[in-house]
Amino acid sequence: MGGPRIQVVQDADELGRAGADLVAGVFAATPAASVVVATGRTPMGLYAELAGCRRSGLADTTRITVYQLDEYLGLEPGDRRSLFGWMRRRFLEPLGITGERVVRLPLGGDLEGACAAFDRALEERGGLDLAILGLGPNGHLGFNEPPSDPWAPTRVVDLSPVTIVANASYWGEVADVPTRAVTMGMGQLLSARAIVLVVSGKSKREIAHRALEGPVGPGVPASFLQEAASGVTVIVDRAAWGNG
Ligand code: PGA
Repeated sequence: MGGPRIQVVQDADELGRAGADLVAGVFAATPAASVVVATGRTPMGLYAELAGCRRSGLADTTRITVYQLDEYLGLEPGDRRSLFGWMRRRFLEPLGITGERVVRLPLGGDLEGACAAFDRALEERGGLDLAILGLGPNGHLGFNEPPSDPWAPTRVVDLSPVTIVANASYWGEVADVPTRAVTMGMGQLLSARAIVLVVSGKSKREIAHRALEGPVGPGVPASFLQEAASGVTVIVDRAAWGNG
């Protein structure tokens, strides 16, 4: 088990390059990888670098399947706040991944049943090879808000006030942030064969240390990465980690 490998990099640019190298390595070793990818600001440099690797022939994405990590509930099609739209613009299109290789979360109907079916289908396909995740200011992974158990399944969640405030910076103001969402579960994420957590900026310093060095428990969902059976790599810049 060994615990997460923590790779401290100089800044956000180096984080993007280091992350892209790691992900390109997973794609080379597992060309038909099943991957879940986060939105949020932190992984955007990684995705841009990865798209560059693909253009130079250093990353092959023709066979990978991409799973959606999380999405707000209650948006009309085409809403500017759609996390799927964000992922499409910044990951799927630059990496040439078309619709038939994308698995979306359920957003309507019998959501409880549909989320359970989503998890079963993922398990039948062998689970995730790679999860690329960011760290919420409250220690969430995806929208697995505290408290989240390590076995929590894919489900509907109410977003915490901390997450709503953090997400307001993407869309304008607090009133623009939907309050409910669907998230892939902790159980699905923690079972990924490889996990890359990217953390950048001074505002993440305290939560980064709590998640990776503090007590493990549902109050900081990312702390379960300390016990994940998979290979966890945390790529964190100096602003988020300090010099220690
Ligand atoms: P951020 O989001 O990358 O925009 O900081 C992280 C998260 O909430 O998971």
